[in-house]
Amino acid sequence: MSAPEKSFYLTTPIYYVNDAPHIGHAYTTVAGDFLTRWHRQKGESVWYLTGTDEHGQKVMRTAEANNTPPQEWCDRLVESAWKPVWRDLEIANDDFIRTTESRHTERVQKFLTGLMEKGFIYEGNYEGPYCVGCEEFKLPGDLDEGKCKIHSKPVEMVKETNWFFKLSAFVQPLLDHYKSNPGACQPDSARNEVVAFLEGGVSDLSISRSTFDWGIKVPWDTKQVVYVWFDALLNYATAVGLTDPADSEGGKFFAKTWPADVHLVGKDILRFHAVIWPAMLMAAGIPVPKKVFAHGWLLVGGEKMSKSKLTGIAPSDITSHFGVDAFRYYFMRAIPFGSDGSFSWEDMSARYTSELANDFGNLASRLTAMIEKYCGGVLPARADSSDLASSLARTVGEADKAICELDFQGGINAIMDFCKEVNSYVTIKEPWVVAKDTTRKAELDAILYNTAESLRALAVLLHPIMPISTNKLWGYLGADKTLGVLGKHKISEVANWAQLHPGTKISKGEILFPRLEDKQES
Ligand code: MSP
Repeated sequence: MSAPEKSFYLTTPIYYVNDAPHIGHAYTTVAGDFLTRWHRQKGESVWYLTGTDEHGQKVMRTAEANNTPPQEWCDRLVESAWKPVWRDLEIANDDFIRTTESRHTERVQKFLTGLMEKGFIYEGNYEGPYCVGCEEFKLPGDLDEGKCKIHSKPVEMVKETNWFFKLSAFVQPLLDHYKSNPGACQPDSARNEVVAFLEGGVSDLSISRSTFDWGIKVPWDTKQVVYVWFDALLNYATAVGLTDPADSEGGKFFAKTWPADVHLVGKDILRFHAVIWPAMLMAAGIPVPKKVFAHGWLLVGGEKMSKSKLTGIAPSDITSHFGVDAFRYYFMRAIPFGSDGSFSWEDMSARYTSELANDFGNLASRLTAMIEKYCGGVLPARADSSDLASSLARTVGEADKAICELDFQGGINAIMDFCKEVNSYVTIKEPWVVAKDTTRKAELDAILYNTAESLRALAVLLHPIMPISTNKLWGYLGADKTLGVLGKHKISEVANWAQLHPGTKISKGEILFPRLEDKQES
């Protein structure tokens, strides 16, 4: 029997359910959705996980402040805020894990018992500052006049007898790991930061708390609950069957998915993912993730956008104006993935108009209008355009390389450059002039067919980032009837020229990206 094909397994952080999602959370989740949709269109088996982090003091205190039991609070937020926002943004996740689910809590307890048996856990005393906003034990360098640098709020002093994980034992193995696998923590600047942190020495980690009870019970000491980050990091593995026997359903699924190919995280939570998490796995003898990628922050007014600083923007504030596809496109196109980026309404409007409405949407409108006018709404005979076809082949290669390296901006640029080239092709070939001369009918047909083919390719290539408008375009080209489901079209086959069937009815549907003035009026 052959081993099952390893899935491309990608995760987002699991988000705290102390509030509804804002565009910072959506940024990571859209990036993960774009990349997993791209890999699916490469014909790979893919598993995309997102979810919610529900234990700990941050969520517990929010629930208390709302006079609601914590479980009820989490249920309400997950169902009324988190899942609907991901649905609205067309996020095609395969699973959604909640840390209060028994599939998670039971596996966390089993994992913990395993580490205890292996001698990596011991009892000790912890005394030091803790930031509930970060749910993190802080080091002196993390503070600014007694306040957490990230939340600008005073930290709390914790003094407890807790269970400790021997994190310090993994400093050298982690340094060796990053030295021999530079791709395991990206971008390079993130890895350099992690290496410097490790070289500075790392203490053992307190992994339980005894002063509140909203968490997973430590199996051998039920007065203590597991530290929320230790609980949360395990979601990536519990969701796919960690600790299940190898021959069980869960065990087989684990073998198919683990190790994760990419953990996408914001740079605020890099150390948890690139230090604590792989150390936990090393201690258990489980392979570490192939890559942790830390992206930058969305800034508003020069600072990390956040609800607690009242700079949070809800995705619907933007999608109600620009639409879901433009939202997804904008953040991946405008900000180099890995760097910070400022969100501005002006920049978003400018790109919407020039790149989506003019370059892409208008090309589709021009083509469908011309086919209606000159060909009675029916796609003319096949033609082979070596120029557009060869630059399409180059585009696919460039885009695929960039996107697989998580250079989303580079990948989208390559595709949109092709879109610009098709616009120039139409401008230079002047089909409206050719159409006036009946002896040039074959030439006219070739221009229109080639333009339609280019739009067919653009629909496939842009589908992972703009699933709604590309599906519409697919319908206008009649491809839904002749070429099947858009999302099933393989990236590797996009550049095969002349796929559209001549004689297909082409429809002039609604404009893909209406001008913003028109939208405001409606
Ligand atoms: N619950 C933890 C993560 C546990 S993962 C095992 C957590 N949750 S969070 O709700 O605070 O979400 C943090 C993540 O949201 C960041 O890492 C990032 O992915 C995303 N972002 C939140 N604010 C952001 C910005 N302003 N900009 C970009 N991403 C942001 O931390």
